[in-house]
Amino acid sequence: MSSETSATFSNELRQGLYEAIFRRRDVREFLPTPVPDETLARILVAAHHAPSVGFTQPWDFVIIRDLERRRRVKAVFEEERAKNAAQFTGARRELFLSLKLEGIIEAPLNLIVTCTPERFGPAVLGRVSIREVSVYSACLAVENLWLAARAEGLGVGWVSILRNEALHELFAIPPEVVPIAYLCVGYAREFPAEPVLESAGWLSRLPPRSLLHFESWTAGASDPGLLRRIEDRDTWREIFGGRK
Ligand SMILES: Cc1cc2nc3c(=O)[nH]c(=O)nc-3n(C[C@H](O)[C@H](O)[C@H](O)COP(=O)(O)O)c2cc1C
Repeated sequence: MSSETSATFSNELRQGLYEAIFRRRDVREFLPTPVPDETLARILVAAHHAPSVGFTQPWDFVIIRDLERRRRVKAVFEEERAKNAAQFTGARRELFLSLKLEGIIEAPLNLIVTCTPERFGPAVLGRVSIREVSVYSACLAVENLWLAARAEGLGVGWVSILRNEALHELFAIPPEVVPIAYLCVGYAREFPAEPVLESAGWLSRLPPRSLLHFESWTAGASDPGLLRRIEDRDTWREIFGGRK
């Protein structure tokens, strides 16, 4: 059995990983430049190396370049966008409608990541008590792909303003397979420093201290030393050379 000899990454490797995490963005504006096969191969293999419950690897990937099929997905998006808009009123609805929330046609490549919950089932190590863990595993494949794409200079945009039944029909996805993520992939026009929804004034990143609970959700304990480190920009500057 092989094993890693060095448990700790060099500073450069560590920095690379954090850069990918913090500089990843949901991208909706793409250049028409095609994605080379060798790059696509790398991000797909990165996705396939995600953790999965019982090592079931429940994902599949549908690779979509055909413009006609993408036009049909875009039409579904437009219908669902109208339904989404209807849940907001006034200025909030106007803001929602002003946001660009997909790059289905502009991106040279679209991908669907799916989940087959029953793969290697019905007896799956680790899936008896919490049934949703197969879906969680497929989401981790998406995140791996998203981060690898960022390191390659590729933007990824997740489009959830769609109907899964339409994806089943348009792409002949079997009924037992769940579409998890519809992704637009291509070279990004830019990677904004902050989420587009934040710069557009939709929502802001929550302060980490509001999300931390010590010992129990309600115990009310605290850990000022940890909180100080989380909020201390110098801690991050060590890694990001001042950029964060
Ligand atoms: C499950 C999921 C569904 C999403 N669906 C959409 C979508 O339909 N359209 C869109 O523009 N962005 C979508 N996003 C992207 C989020 O808006 C984005 O991740 C969030 O605003 C934070 O921005 P960032 O990814 O650039 O950090 C989705 C993200 C996730 C994780």
